Amino acid sequence: MKRTSHISELREIIAIEKSRGRRIALIPTMGYLHRGHLALVEQAKQRGALIVLSIFVNPLQFGPNEDYTSYPRDLEKDAHLVETAGVDVLFHPTSEEMYPLPMVTYVEVGQLDAVLCGANRPGHFRGVATVVSKLFHIVQPDLAFFGQKDYQQYLIIRRMVGDLNLPIEVCPVPIVRDFDGLALSSRNVFLTSEQRQEALILSQSLNEAEKLLRAGERSARVLETRIKEKITNESQGVIDYVEVREAQNLSEVTRIENPVLVALAVRFGSTRLIDNKVMEVNPLV
Ligand code: PAJ
Repeated sequence: MKRTSHISELREIIAIEKSRGRRIALIPTMGYLHRGHLALVEQAKQRGALIVLSIFVNPLQFGPNEDYTSYPRDLEKDAHLVETAGVDVLFHPTSEEMYPLPMVTYVEVGQLDAVLCGANRPGHFRGVATVVSKLFHIVQPDLAFFGQKDYQQYLIIRRMVGDLNLPIEVCPVPIVRDFDGLALSSRNVFLTSEQRQEALILSQSLNEAEKLLRAGERSARVLETRIKEKITNESQGVIDYVEVREAQNLSEVTRIENPVLVALAVRFGSTRLIDNKVMEVNPLV
């Protein structure tokens, strides 16, 4: 595996591979990697492309009171993991390399960032779209992989690629969970063992909502209320949001007819966790 923190060196490596006719796959991450990230690598491997994985904790997407400085980092452990997993090139720039000057140009996200995590974290998705756009320009990938753990992020990037005519195939990867259902996240490391146990309520309440839907419930508000009650009654979690929205475009839903995204964000102590499930009225199972 090659590794570099320099944009110019990365561009040289990629130019050589492209001249040999190789397709390029990009996996953007903020590091502290786990099996969820490695699932993206697995999917990329199946496409036979040169795999570039980036690790960059992007200051632009953190709010002033968020966990940018305390975000977990372990570059050497990550490097070992991705090398074993079959990544070809690891790109781990510094903030100075990515942002040599204060930014004046951004990728603005409309509509899709006014709801869910966007409503709770102003400027977050502008920061994400801007850094992903920079990475797309640096790497010029044919394929880019995003996890459905961050479903709203995936939709926003997919839309950005369409709106701006970027020649990139955006590939979604299903959520990877721990043995007990907790969605894997770099932030899980901040949970005490009690909080980690309580956090199981997130996937459990999503599963229960899906059972209700399968049993014939079609009201989005009823599903939201049942999830909120379960979380409030059975844990100390403080709810940021629990919402049912159209899976295609995050628009509002009253009666569930099309595939919906059931998404939630809940705080356990100072750790904010997100989880979601896409549910269909008539699943092909
Ligand atoms: P990060 O949280 O490190 O996640 C990197 C990628 O891994 C994202 O596409 C995310 O959805 C995916 N991922 C994380 N946990 C996952 C899980 N349990 N199952 C499946 N996929 C999972 O998301 C970011 O970084 C940043 O916002 C980034 C896109 C890199 C821009 O800075």
